[in-house]
Amino acid sequence: FCDKYLQGQHWVITAGPTREAIDPVRYISNHSSGKMGYAIAHAAIRAGAKVTLISGPVNISAPVGCQLISVISAEDMHQQALKFAPESTTFIACAAVADYRVANIASQKIKKTNDAMHLELVKNHDIVADVACLPNKPFMVGFAAETQNIEAYARGKLVRKNLDLIAANDVAKSGQGFNSDDNALMLYSAIDKTEIPLANKQIVAQKLVSLINQHYLAKQI
Ligand code: C5P
Repeated sequence: FCDKYLQGQHWVITAGPTREAIDPVRYISNHSSGKMGYAIAHAAIRAGAKVTLISGPVNISAPVGCQLISVISAEDMHQQALKFAPESTTFIACAAVADYRVANIASQKIKKTNDAMHLELVKNHDIVADVACLPNKPFMVGFAAETQNIEAYARGKLVRKNLDLIAANDVAKSGQGFNSDDNALMLYSAIDKTEIPLANKQIVAQKLVSLINQHYLAKQI
């Protein structure tokens, strides 16, 4: 048994929400706390990996020993992910990336005028799917936050985004997932599934990191 079982590996992890500017004072975002991604980063560092943590704006501090790349928008995160992924062995997409951004960000604060207002949104790049298209792609792990048909939707994303593994959580259940200290995951590969039962995100992360490494090693043979 070696507690530094990730020695020699480089993990790139995306975490937290993204912020999509509307004007100089407003943005569109979501409730992601970054806790799961930061817990994975912490567990991977403890296991001996070099970790690059590409993080949207969060209120928690980065684990000691990681390379923190702070970003704001999905497009910033996309750029940094494509920069660091080619030198990594493993890419974990834990960020809650905004699906859309504002088409034309106002350069001045938008004033209240009409009763209704319309914002035009355009689709952001899919970060994990684009990294999975790199010629020398790392071992790819995505997340799927679902409220129903969890296995079917998660497996759909596994195939569509060209991933090796997908970790699915049921965000309809209270007390786990988004913004919570606890989580429960189902980890799907093309051929099997493993349950990580409800526990503190630090414990879930330790189990997940070890499982990801087992799948990674199996793929190297
Ligand atoms: O399609 P959906 O957003 O549900 O997929 C979730 C997975 O895809 C997560 O791993 C998330 O980090 C990643 N993702 C991404 N870039 C996006 C949207 C999602 O990397 N623009």
